[in-house]
Amino acid sequence: MSPAAGRDVLRVGIVGCGSIARAHALSYTGHPRVELVGVFDHDQDRADAFAATHRTTAFRSRQQLVDAGVDLVSVATPPGSHTEVASALLAAGCSVLLEKPPAVALAEMDVLAAADAASAGSLYVVFQHRHGSGARRASRLLRSSALGTPQVAVCETLWYRPDSYFLPEWRGTWVGEGGGPTLGHAIHQLDLLLHLMGPWRTVDARAARIARPVEFEDVSLGLLTFDSGAVGTVTTSLLSPRELSRIRVDTTAGTLEVDHVYGYRDADWSWTPAPDATAAARLGRDPGLPADPGTADGGPAEEQDVWAASAGEDRPSNHRAQIEQLVEDLLAGRDHDTTLASTRPTMELVTALYASALEGGTVARTDLGPDNPYYSRLDGGRPAETVTRRLGTRP
Ligand SMILES: NC(=O)c1ccc[n+]([C@@H]2O[C@H](COP(=O)([O-])OP(=O)(O)OC[C@H]3O[C@@H](n4cnc5c(N)ncnc54)[C@H](O)[C@@H]3O)[C@@H](O)[C@H]2O)c1
Repeated sequence: MSPAAGRDVLRVGIVGCGSIARAHALSYTGHPRVELVGVFDHDQDRADAFAATHRTTAFRSRQQLVDAGVDLVSVATPPGSHTEVASALLAAGCSVLLEKPPAVALAEMDVLAAADAASAGSLYVVFQHRHGSGARRASRLLRSSALGTPQVAVCETLWYRPDSYFLPEWRGTWVGEGGGPTLGHAIHQLDLLLHLMGPWRTVDARAARIARPVEFEDVSLGLLTFDSGAVGTVTTSLLSPRELSRIRVDTTAGTLEVDHVYGYRDADWSWTPAPDATAAARLGRDPGLPADPGTADGGPAEEQDVWAASAGEDRPSNHRAQIEQLVEDLLAGRDHDTTLASTRPTMELVTALYASALEGGTVARTDLGPDNPYYSRLDGGRPAETVTRRLGTRP
């Protein structure tokens, strides 16, 4: 049970005062049952400016923040520092809300899991797209089979990052980022895909470095199988001027789709029921004919549309949606559902996409134990020439 259970107010801190920390601070300061006790950043000027903006205290060390008495700390530092920072906070007995990606390798996920198990606090991960009302409805209805059985999935993260995005020294490198867009950008959609589809089983992937000045891929493509027997594709790109984040799930009962870029609302989700028997028979005879509005294949009657009938409050998929839920859960002594363990399949999928793209062949989820070179590093520890041979030549 959360040590904060039964309290009136949750005492919170933030480590790392860069761009995304603002979303954490605004979610905390806007919550009536949260006190933002203070922040720490090893760039003191940045911490001071951030603390002034959000009317809180800038501590001079992480320990001072802990000593001020915090129940929960948001960690919004770069991915390569997550394991050290989060493990230290857990050892001090705090709960931690860790930004995505939780770690840059499965080996680090296991270090974090051990720190979580030994702590009086608990470790949770930011995957805000699980927490919008659309994903909550979709996962609930898919789990109860109310939307049929998933058969085919399409998952796309088609974003655009120009060369100048990679100017900061740490960007574009394995050491600085831990991996390319398959880790840093696609992970949001991959996590949501698995949240909807259930456990994945195998991956066959390709990756390429087509245009950007980076050490890793700027595009990756994967073919997935799931334990359920469903199949899917995953496409990730940083070369796509009309940006799109899309997940489409075709089930035995219809097509569920979410189409957004950096966050969705309810209106970005759609459900298209499969044609009924009469319409299917007609389509069998005359495939491709447009549906006749006003008939069954023109759309279901409102009372038959299980998706529309399940609509409630429209909660966009942002930090506020997840943080409000987390605060409620901790104060009520409940576990928050985006635990570290729940995000391991996502990190395993990212790992398998790199392992298959760089080594060739199919990678199964069961192949990713500690003896696999990709368990410790997403480039598998392969020399730069080998990675270049597999991805293409750096421009
Ligand atoms: N959930 C989302 O939608 C989302 C969006 C953007 C970024 N992120 C994630 O948030 C994290 C931070 O990204 P960002 O864009 O805010 O980075 P950033 O570079 O803007 O900020 C990082 C901050 O952390 C500080 N820092 C670095 N190491 C530290 C340490 N050990 N202790 C204390 N402070 C330290 C830096 O000085 C900097 O101020 C990353 O993991 C990133 O992937 C998540």
